[in-house]
Amino acid sequence: MYNPVKITESIYYVGVNERRKTLFENQLPLPYGVSYNSYLVTDEKVALIDTVDVCYFDVFLKKIESVLGNRPIDYLVINHMEPDHSGSIRLIKEKYPDVQIVGNAKTFEMIKGYFGITNNLYEVNDGAILNLGQTALEFYMTPMVHWPETMMTYAKADKILFSGDAFGCFGALDGGVIDNTINTEKYWAEMRRYYASIIGKYGVPVHKALEKLKPLEIAAICSTHGPVWKENKEKTIDTYNKLSQYEASAGVVVAYGSMYGNTEQMAEAVAEGIVAGGVKDVVLYDVSKTDASFILSDIFKYSGLVIGSPTYMNDLLPAVEALLRKIETRAIKNRIFASFGSCTWAGVALKRINPVAENLKWDIVGSVEEKQGLKPEKYNDCVSLGLKMAEKIKK
Ligand code: FEO
Repeated sequence: MYNPVKITESIYYVGVNERRKTLFENQLPLPYGVSYNSYLVTDEKVALIDTVDVCYFDVFLKKIESVLGNRPIDYLVINHMEPDHSGSIRLIKEKYPDVQIVGNAKTFEMIKGYFGITNNLYEVNDGAILNLGQTALEFYMTPMVHWPETMMTYAKADKILFSGDAFGCFGALDGGVIDNTINTEKYWAEMRRYYASIIGKYGVPVHKALEKLKPLEIAAICSTHGPVWKENKEKTIDTYNKLSQYEASAGVVVAYGSMYGNTEQMAEAVAEGIVAGGVKDVVLYDVSKTDASFILSDIFKYSGLVIGSPTYMNDLLPAVEALLRKIETRAIKNRIFASFGSCTWAGVALKRINPVAENLKWDIVGSVEEKQGLKPEKYNDCVSLGLKMAEKIKK
Protein backbone atom coordinates (compact mmCIF):
# COMPACT_ATOMS: atom_id res chain seq x y z
CA MET A 1 0.00 0.00 0.00
CA TYR A 2 2.78 2.45 0.84
CA ASN A 3 5.03 3.77 -1.91
CA PRO A 4 8.56 2.80 -0.82
CA VAL A 5 10.71 5.89 -0.14
CA LYS A 6 14.12 5.29 -1.69
CA ILE A 7 17.25 6.91 -0.28
CA THR A 8 19.43 4.95 -2.72
CA GLU A 9 18.75 1.96 -4.99
CA SER A 10 18.99 -0.40 -2.02
CA ILE A 11 18.19 1.77 1.02
CA TYR A 12 14.64 2.71 2.00
CA TYR A 13 13.06 5.02 4.55
CA VAL A 14 10.45 3.27 6.71
CA GLY A 15 10.02 5.80 9.54
CA VAL A 16 6.83 7.32 10.93
CA ASN A 17 5.55 10.72 12.02
CA GLU A 18 4.31 11.78 15.45
CA ARG A 19 1.89 14.71 15.51
CA ARG A 20 -0.32 13.72 18.44
CA LYS A 21 2.10 13.99 21.31
CA THR A 22 2.29 17.51 22.69
CA LEU A 23 5.43 16.88 24.77
CA PHE A 24 8.47 14.86 23.66
CA GLU A 25 9.83 12.85 26.61
CA ASN A 26 6.72 14.19 28.36
CA GLN A 27 8.55 17.50 28.80
CA LEU A 28 9.52 19.22 25.52
CA PRO A 29 6.88 20.96 23.34
CA LEU A 30 6.45 19.67 19.79
CA PRO A 31 4.91 22.51 17.77
CA TYR A 32 5.77 20.78 14.48
CA GLY A 33 5.67 17.18 15.73
CA VAL A 34 8.62 14.81 15.37
CA SER A 35 9.56 11.86 13.17
CA TYR A 36 10.91 8.50 14.30
CA ASN A 37 13.15 7.40 11.45
CA SER A 38 14.06 3.87 10.52
CA TYR A 39 15.73 2.51 7.38
CA LEU A 40 15.95 -0.75 5.48
CA VAL A 41 19.17 -1.79 3.75
CA THR A 42 18.35 -4.46 1.19
CA ASP A 43 20.90 -6.79 -0.38
CA GLU A 44 21.39 -10.57 -0.30
CA LYS A 45 20.67 -10.03 3.38
CA VAL A 46 18.33 -7.37 4.77
CA ALA A 47 19.15 -5.06 7.67
CA LEU A 48 16.68 -2.81 9.48
CA ILE A 49 18.37 0.19 11.09
CA ASP A 50 16.63 1.12 14.38
CA THR A 51 12.90 0.85 15.01
CA VAL A 52 10.20 3.38 16.03
CA ASP A 53 8.04 4.28 19.01
CA VAL A 54 5.92 1.22 19.76
CA CYS A 55 2.66 3.21 19.35
CA TYR A 56 3.41 3.35 15.62
CA PHE A 57 4.34 -0.30 15.14
CA ASP A 58 1.37 -1.10 12.91
CA VAL A 59 2.13 1.54 10.28
CA PHE A 60 5.87 0.83 10.65
CA LEU A 61 5.35 -2.85 9.81
CA LYS A 62 3.16 -1.98 6.82
CA LYS A 63 5.94 0.25 5.48
CA ILE A 64 8.52 -2.52 5.98
CA GLU A 65 6.27 -5.01 4.20
CA SER A 66 5.66 -2.62 1.33
CA VAL A 67 9.42 -2.83 0.64
CA LEU A 68 10.15 -6.44 1.57
CA GLY A 69 6.91 -8.29 0.87
CA ASN A 70 7.41 -11.67 2.51
CA ARG A 71 11.21 -11.44 2.70
CA PRO A 72 12.49 -11.69 6.25
CA ILE A 73 14.72 -9.20 8.02
CA ASP A 74 18.09 -10.78 8.75
CA TYR A 75 19.62 -8.10 10.96
CA LEU A 76 18.20 -5.40 13.21
CA VAL A 77 20.89 -2.80 13.88
CA ILE A 78 20.33 -0.84 17.09
CA ASN A 79 22.26 2.41 17.03
CA HIS A 80 20.46 3.76 20.10
CA MET A 81 18.32 2.21 22.82
CA GLU A 82 16.11 5.13 23.89
CA PRO A 83 12.50 3.89 23.61
CA ASP A 84 11.50 6.33 20.83
CA HIS A 85 13.73 4.12 18.64
CA SER A 86 13.99 0.80 20.44
CA GLY A 87 10.29 0.62 21.36
CA SER A 88 9.37 -1.83 18.58
CA ILE A 89 12.26 -4.29 19.08
CA ARG A 90 10.14 -6.89 20.84
CA LEU A 91 7.41 -6.80 18.17
CA ILE A 92 9.96 -6.94 15.31
CA LYS A 93 11.47 -10.00 16.94
CA GLU A 94 8.04 -11.59 17.26
CA LYS A 95 7.33 -10.94 13.57
CA TYR A 96 10.83 -11.99 12.42
CA PRO A 97 11.92 -14.61 15.00
CA ASP A 98 15.27 -15.39 13.33
CA VAL A 99 16.43 -11.76 13.20
CA GLN A 100 19.92 -11.14 14.61
CA ILE A 101 20.07 -8.01 16.74
CA VAL A 102 23.26 -6.02 16.05
CA GLY A 103 24.66 -3.82 18.80
CA ASN A 104 27.47 -3.43 21.33
CA ALA A 105 27.85 -4.83 24.83
CA LYS A 106 26.08 -1.82 26.38
CA THR A 107 23.21 -2.14 23.88
CA PHE A 108 22.69 -5.75 24.90
CA GLU A 109 22.67 -4.93 28.60
CA MET A 110 19.83 -2.46 27.90
CA ILE A 111 17.96 -4.87 25.58
CA LYS A 112 17.97 -7.42 28.37
CA GLY A 113 16.81 -4.83 30.90
CA TYR A 114 14.04 -3.33 28.74
CA PHE A 115 12.82 -6.41 26.84
CA GLY A 116 14.34 -9.49 28.48
CA ILE A 117 15.94 -10.42 25.13
CA THR A 118 19.19 -12.39 25.45
CA ASN A 119 19.36 -14.53 22.29
CA ASN A 120 20.23 -13.95 18.61
CA LEU A 121 22.59 -11.10 19.50
CA TYR A 122 25.38 -10.10 17.10
CA GLU A 123 27.95 -8.02 18.95
CA VAL A 124 29.99 -5.39 17.14
CA ASN A 125 32.68 -2.98 18.27
CA ASP A 126 34.54 -0.07 16.74
CA GLY A 127 35.40 -0.70 13.09
CA ALA A 128 33.49 -4.00 12.83
CA ILE A 129 32.07 -4.81 9.39
CA LEU A 130 28.91 -6.74 8.58
CA ASN A 131 28.54 -7.90 4.98
CA LEU A 132 25.04 -7.99 3.54
CA GLY A 133 26.17 -8.93 0.01
CA GLN A 134 27.43 -6.02 -2.09
CA THR A 135 26.82 -3.72 0.86
CA ALA A 136 29.01 -3.67 3.93
CA LEU A 137 27.89 -1.99 7.13
CA GLU A 138 30.68 -0.47 9.20
CA PHE A 139 30.16 0.38 12.86
CA TYR A 140 31.46 3.35 14.81
CA MET A 141 31.13 3.53 18.57
CA THR A 142 30.09 7.04 19.59
CA PRO A 143 29.40 6.72 23.32
CA MET A 144 27.44 9.46 25.13
CA VAL A 145 25.89 10.95 22.01
CA HIS A 146 23.79 11.01 24.17
CA TRP A 147 23.54 7.61 25.88
CA PRO A 148 26.42 5.23 26.70
CA GLU A 149 25.52 2.67 24.02
CA THR A 150 25.12 5.11 21.11
CA MET A 151 26.85 4.06 17.91
CA MET A 152 26.61 4.88 14.21
CA THR A 153 26.41 2.66 11.13
CA TYR A 154 27.97 3.49 7.78
CA ALA A 155 26.87 1.85 4.53
CA LYS A 156 30.16 1.95 2.68
CA ALA A 157 29.08 1.41 -0.94
CA ASP A 158 26.43 4.15 -0.89
CA LYS A 159 28.30 6.38 1.62
CA ILE A 160 25.26 6.65 3.84
CA LEU A 161 25.67 7.42 7.54
CA PHE A 162 22.98 6.18 9.93
CA SER A 163 23.73 8.51 12.78
CA GLY A 164 21.15 7.80 15.49
CA ASP A 165 20.00 10.97 17.26
CA ALA A 166 23.05 12.93 16.07
CA PHE A 167 22.16 15.47 13.36
CA GLY A 168 18.50 14.98 14.31
CA CYS A 169 15.87 17.61 14.87
CA PHE A 170 12.28 18.05 15.94
CA GLY A 171 9.65 18.46 13.23
CA ALA A 172 7.57 15.76 11.54
CA LEU A 173 8.19 15.06 7.84
CA ASP A 174 5.36 16.64 5.90
CA GLY A 175 5.15 14.53 2.76
CA GLY A 176 8.85 14.36 1.90
CA VAL A 177 11.86 12.76 3.54
CA ILE A 178 15.00 13.90 1.69
CA ASP A 179 16.05 17.51 2.19
CA ASN A 180 16.34 18.32 -1.52
CA THR A 181 12.63 17.55 -2.00
CA ILE A 182 11.22 19.74 0.81
CA ASN A 183 11.40 23.20 2.34
CA THR A 184 13.79 22.67 5.26
CA GLU A 185 13.37 26.11 6.83
CA LYS A 186 11.50 25.03 9.97
CA TYR A 187 14.01 22.30 10.82
CA TRP A 188 17.07 24.47 11.52
CA ALA A 189 15.71 26.20 14.63
CA GLU A 190 14.23 22.88 15.70
CA MET A 191 17.65 21.24 15.26
CA ARG A 192 19.21 23.71 17.66
CA ARG A 193 16.34 23.33 20.17
CA TYR A 194 16.64 19.54 19.91
CA TYR A 195 20.39 19.73 20.49
CA ALA A 196 20.08 22.20 23.37
CA SER A 197 17.39 20.13 25.06
CA ILE A 198 18.62 16.59 24.55
CA ILE A 199 22.25 16.43 23.43
CA GLY A 200 23.58 19.72 24.82
CA LYS A 201 25.10 18.29 28.00
CA TYR A 202 27.39 16.07 25.92
CA GLY A 203 29.35 18.59 23.85
CA VAL A 204 32.70 16.84 24.42
CA PRO A 205 31.57 13.33 23.30
CA VAL A 206 29.68 14.87 20.36
CA HIS A 207 32.82 16.67 19.23
CA LYS A 208 34.85 13.47 19.66
CA ALA A 209 32.33 11.59 17.51
CA LEU A 210 32.50 14.27 14.81
CA GLU A 211 36.30 13.99 14.76
CA LYS A 212 36.02 10.20 14.40
CA LEU A 213 33.62 10.57 11.46
CA LYS A 214 35.76 13.17 9.67
CA PRO A 215 37.58 10.70 7.36
CA LEU A 216 34.29 9.28 6.07
CA GLU A 217 32.98 10.37 2.71
CA ILE A 218 29.30 11.01 3.31
CA ALA A 219 26.64 11.20 0.59
CA ALA A 220 23.71 11.45 3.01
CA ILE A 221 23.07 11.53 6.74
CA CYS A 222 20.16 9.40 7.91
CA SER A 223 19.36 10.45 11.45
CA THR A 224 16.60 9.03 13.64
CA HIS A 225 14.72 12.37 13.67
CA GLY A 226 14.00 14.84 10.88
CA PRO A 227 14.92 14.91 7.19
CA VAL A 228 17.58 12.85 5.46
CA TRP A 229 20.36 15.37 4.87
CA LYS A 230 21.82 15.20 1.37
CA GLU A 231 22.25 18.67 -0.11
CA ASN A 232 22.51 20.17 3.41
CA LYS A 233 24.85 17.56 4.86
CA GLU A 234 27.77 19.98 5.28
CA LYS A 235 25.53 22.59 6.92
CA THR A 236 24.20 19.91 9.28
CA ILE A 237 27.67 18.74 10.29
CA ASP A 238 28.82 22.35 10.68
CA THR A 239 25.79 23.15 12.87
CA TYR A 240 26.50 20.20 15.18
CA ASN A 241 30.20 20.99 15.20
CA LYS A 242 29.57 24.58 16.35
CA LEU A 243 26.95 23.54 18.90
CA SER A 244 29.22 20.89 20.38
CA GLN A 245 31.85 23.57 21.01
CA TYR A 246 29.31 26.07 22.37
CA GLU A 247 30.17 28.45 19.52
CA ALA A 248 27.75 31.37 19.42
CA SER A 249 26.97 34.41 17.30
CA ALA A 250 26.88 38.02 18.52
CA GLY A 251 23.61 38.55 20.30
CA VAL A 252 22.03 38.50 23.76
CA VAL A 253 19.29 36.57 25.50
CA VAL A 254 17.64 38.46 28.35
CA ALA A 255 15.70 35.90 30.39
CA TYR A 256 13.77 37.12 33.38
CA GLY A 257 11.03 36.25 35.80
CA SER A 258 8.68 38.95 37.02
CA MET A 259 5.68 38.73 39.35
CA TYR A 260 4.28 42.25 39.04
CA GLY A 261 6.35 43.83 36.27
CA ASN A 262 9.11 45.53 38.28
CA THR A 263 11.83 43.05 37.30
CA GLU A 264 10.49 43.13 33.76
CA GLN A 265 11.13 46.88 33.60
CA MET A 266 14.75 46.21 34.53
CA ALA A 267 14.94 43.65 31.69
CA GLU A 268 13.61 46.24 29.24
CA ALA A 269 16.15 48.82 30.41
CA VAL A 270 19.08 46.38 30.06
CA ALA A 271 17.87 45.43 26.55
CA GLU A 272 17.64 49.13 25.62
CA GLY A 273 21.27 49.54 26.64
CA ILE A 274 22.39 46.52 24.61
CA VAL A 275 20.68 47.78 21.47
CA ALA A 276 21.94 51.34 22.07
CA GLY A 277 25.41 49.80 22.28
CA GLY A 278 25.05 48.49 18.74
CA VAL A 279 23.97 44.86 19.16
CA LYS A 280 20.93 44.12 17.02
CA ASP A 281 20.14 40.54 18.03
CA VAL A 282 18.51 40.83 21.45
CA VAL A 283 15.78 38.44 22.58
CA LEU A 284 13.75 38.93 25.77
CA TYR A 285 12.05 35.96 27.39
CA ASP A 286 9.64 35.93 30.30
CA VAL A 287 10.62 32.55 31.75
CA SER A 288 7.15 32.02 33.23
CA LYS A 289 5.63 32.14 29.77
CA THR A 290 8.10 30.60 27.32
CA ASP A 291 9.09 26.96 27.62
CA ALA A 292 12.72 26.66 28.72
CA SER A 293 13.65 24.60 25.62
CA PHE A 294 13.14 27.66 23.39
CA ILE A 295 15.16 29.87 25.75
CA LEU A 296 17.97 27.30 25.98
CA SER A 297 18.03 27.06 22.22
CA ASP A 298 18.75 30.80 21.99
CA ILE A 299 21.27 30.58 24.82
CA PHE A 300 23.15 28.07 22.62
CA LYS A 301 22.78 30.51 19.71
CA TYR A 302 23.95 33.80 21.25
CA SER A 303 27.16 34.77 23.03
CA GLY A 304 25.51 36.98 25.67
CA LEU A 305 23.12 36.08 28.47
CA VAL A 306 21.42 38.28 31.04
CA ILE A 307 19.30 36.72 33.76
CA GLY A 308 16.98 38.56 36.14
CA SER A 309 14.72 37.47 38.96
CA PRO A 310 12.75 38.88 41.85
CA THR A 311 13.52 37.52 45.28
CA TYR A 312 10.72 35.13 46.13
CA MET A 313 10.46 33.41 49.54
CA ASN A 314 14.08 34.30 50.22
CA ASP A 315 15.10 32.56 46.98
CA LEU A 316 14.67 32.83 43.19
CA LEU A 317 11.40 32.81 41.34
CA PRO A 318 11.00 29.04 40.68
CA ALA A 319 10.93 29.37 36.88
CA VAL A 320 14.26 31.26 36.93
CA GLU A 321 15.71 28.62 39.25
CA ALA A 322 14.57 25.89 36.83
CA LEU A 323 16.23 27.62 33.87
CA LEU A 324 19.48 28.06 35.80
CA ARG A 325 19.56 24.34 36.69
CA LYS A 326 19.12 23.46 33.01
CA ILE A 327 22.00 25.77 32.08
CA GLU A 328 24.22 24.25 34.80
CA THR A 329 23.38 20.70 33.70
CA ARG A 330 24.53 21.49 30.19
CA ALA A 331 27.69 23.25 31.43
CA ILE A 332 27.33 25.87 28.70
CA LYS A 333 30.70 27.47 28.02
CA ASN A 334 32.08 30.85 26.98
CA ARG A 335 29.21 33.22 27.60
CA ILE A 336 29.28 36.93 28.47
CA PHE A 337 26.98 37.37 31.42
CA ALA A 338 25.10 40.00 33.43
CA SER A 339 22.30 39.80 35.98
CA PHE A 340 19.70 41.89 37.71
CA GLY A 341 17.31 41.36 40.57
CA SER A 342 14.61 43.08 42.54
CA CYS A 343 13.16 42.63 45.98
CA THR A 344 10.80 44.29 48.42
CA TRP A 345 12.76 43.90 51.64
CA ALA A 346 15.76 41.49 51.35
CA GLY A 347 17.60 40.85 48.07
CA VAL A 348 18.61 37.23 47.56
CA ALA A 349 18.17 36.71 43.79
CA LEU A 350 21.66 37.85 42.74
CA LYS A 351 23.27 35.70 45.44
CA ARG A 352 21.65 32.70 43.76
CA ILE A 353 22.18 33.70 40.12
CA ASN A 354 25.77 34.94 40.08
CA PRO A 355 27.50 31.83 41.52
CA VAL A 356 26.15 29.81 38.57
CA ALA A 357 27.94 32.14 36.14
CA GLU A 358 31.08 32.07 38.29
CA ASN A 359 31.13 28.26 38.37
CA LEU A 360 30.77 28.13 34.60
CA LYS A 361 33.69 30.59 34.35
CA TRP A 362 31.70 33.02 32.24
CA ASP A 363 32.85 36.57 31.57
CA ILE A 364 30.74 38.53 34.08
CA VAL A 365 29.91 42.12 33.13
CA GLY A 366 28.04 43.14 36.28
CA SER A 367 24.76 43.18 38.18
CA VAL A 368 22.05 45.64 39.21
CA GLU A 369 19.69 45.25 42.14
CA GLU A 370 16.63 47.39 42.93
CA LYS A 371 14.32 47.52 45.93
CA GLN A 372 10.57 47.86 45.22
CA GLY A 373 9.75 49.93 42.10
CA LEU A 374 12.36 50.83 39.46
CA LYS A 375 13.68 54.36 40.08
CA PRO A 376 15.72 56.64 37.77
CA GLU A 377 19.12 55.84 39.26
CA LYS A 378 18.73 52.06 38.88
CA TYR A 379 17.05 52.50 35.50
CA ASN A 380 20.23 54.25 34.34
CA ASP A 381 22.36 51.50 35.91
CA CYS A 382 20.40 48.89 33.92
CA VAL A 383 20.94 50.81 30.67
CA SER A 384 24.66 51.13 31.48
CA LEU A 385 24.85 47.40 32.17
CA GLY A 386 23.37 46.79 28.72
CA LEU A 387 25.87 49.19 27.12
CA LYS A 388 28.79 47.41 28.80
CA MET A 389 27.41 44.09 27.68
CA ALA A 390 27.17 45.32 24.07
CA GLU A 391 30.77 46.51 24.19
CA LYS A 392 31.98 43.01 25.14
CA ILE A 393 29.69 41.27 22.66
CA LYS A 394 31.03 43.34 19.78
CA LYS A 395 34.64 42.42 20.64
FE1 FEO B 1 15.53 10.01 19.81
FE2 FEO B 1 17.80 9.61 22.33
O1 FEO B 1 16.25 9.22 21.37
